[in-house]
Amino acid sequence: MCSYAFKRRSVVLLLSVLAIVGASTAWAASPAGDDGRRRLIDNGLGRTPQMGWNSWNHFGCNIDEMTIRSTVDALISTGLANKGYTYVNLDDCWAAYQRTNEGYMAADPKKFPSGIKDLADYVHSKGLKLGLYSSAGTRTCSQTMPGSLGFEDIDAKTFASWGVDYLKYDNCNGNGLRETVRFPRMSAALSNAGRPIFYSLCEWGVMNVATWGAQYGNSWRTTGDINNSWASMLSNINTNDQFASYAKPGGWNDPDMLEVGNGGMTHDEYVVHFSLWAIAKSPLIIGCDVRSMSKETLDILSNPEVIAINQDRLGIQGKKVRQYDNEIEVWAGPLSKRRTAVLLLNRGSSGSRQITAAWTDIGIKRGIAVEARDVWKHETVAGRLNGSLTAEVAPHSCKLFVLTHVGRQQ
Ligand SMILES: *[C@@H]1O[C@H](CO)[C@@H](O)[C@H](O)[C@H]1NC(C)=O
Ligand SMILES: *[C@@H]1O[C@H](CO)[C@@H](O)[C@H](O)[C@H]1NC(C)=O
Repeated sequence: MCSYAFKRRSVVLLLSVLAIVGASTAWAASPAGDDGRRRLIDNGLGRTPQMGWNSWNHFGCNIDEMTIRSTVDALISTGLANKGYTYVNLDDCWAAYQRTNEGYMAADPKKFPSGIKDLADYVHSKGLKLGLYSSAGTRTCSQTMPGSLGFEDIDAKTFASWGVDYLKYDNCNGNGLRETVRFPRMSAALSNAGRPIFYSLCEWGVMNVATWGAQYGNSWRTTGDINNSWASMLSNINTNDQFASYAKPGGWNDPDMLEVGNGGMTHDEYVVHFSLWAIAKSPLIIGCDVRSMSKETLDILSNPEVIAINQDRLGIQGKKVRQYDNEIEVWAGPLSKRRTAVLLLNRGSSGSRQITAAWTDIGIKRGIAVEARDVWKHETVAGRLNGSLTAEVAPHSCKLFVLTHVGRQQ
């Protein structure tokens, strides 16, 4: 298992080098195997990382149509919808235990008595989009509803007929079939369903999905499930980081949904969580109860300057570029309009640290001066910086800056 993974990684590295040399955009190792002119999924969606809300991290299986409708209302009344949180996604446990006699998936009649089409109409009437969930298996992970394995076409058409805009597709109960077989099947089914449906592969990073996911989907989970802890959040974003070069408009690495507002981390830790997801071009899918969140939570989730980093049109995933002594990290990535996003992270718990981002580490040419904007303080640092940026960062905290290049100075 280990040696297999190791070989696989080497191949990926080699391919990365070739891709840079050849300036090719279609270079991932392909399970389908073809002539090297592989196409990316062609549904026009996901030009920037998806934003929205999903039921799982807060509600688990306890969902019903009133909860979802009131969540839609709260996304609007809090202003989150206007900030770009568009998708309202049901996770596991929305469907009846069995298919109908005709083989169709149906909504759980107790939880969603009005049906999914009615819910989609409501969501659309508010200017938002509806997401649904299934598994590339015989049943979903909760075992409370059918999965779509062997029913891909009928399910994709059913979802489309209801007006569904997004599918999160999980990896439970796969009957021993490989991910590279099961996940492409649903991709093909969705592309024949007659409606653009954002396809979110949730196959946990198995078989290095980042290297082939973009052919089939708009995002792909690179990790196991996140949980509401500092350790889990950092572990997921670190795993995700090694696949940075595979992200681009149309297809994104997904280190899992946000836990901001669910209570297992401090305010500063949630700021770190949101900052890392933003700079790494991760999907911003809210996972808390937006109907009862605190003002602090709302302020984190709706920070327009941080969202703008995530939604920048260049779509280049920021990466960890420096690490010191297991506590200090510098993350950076280019933005449009000659700008650079920089995150200074103190993972340690003992005290504040001075952290420096040198131009040589963050991809800015020597001699370029910048104007630095602290996007959490909403302040522009006085004067111009030349060569490096240094700031003091409290434990389990970060600072996030956008540097605007102002040209070579004499
Ligand atoms: C959460 O994730 C962390 C890190 O991946 C793990 O060590 C921990 O056991 C998990 N906690 C729960 C409750 O699953
Ligand atoms: C910026 O730094 C470079 C290298 O030290 C130096 O040549 C240049 O004069 C500096 N510019 C300013 C305005 O300080």
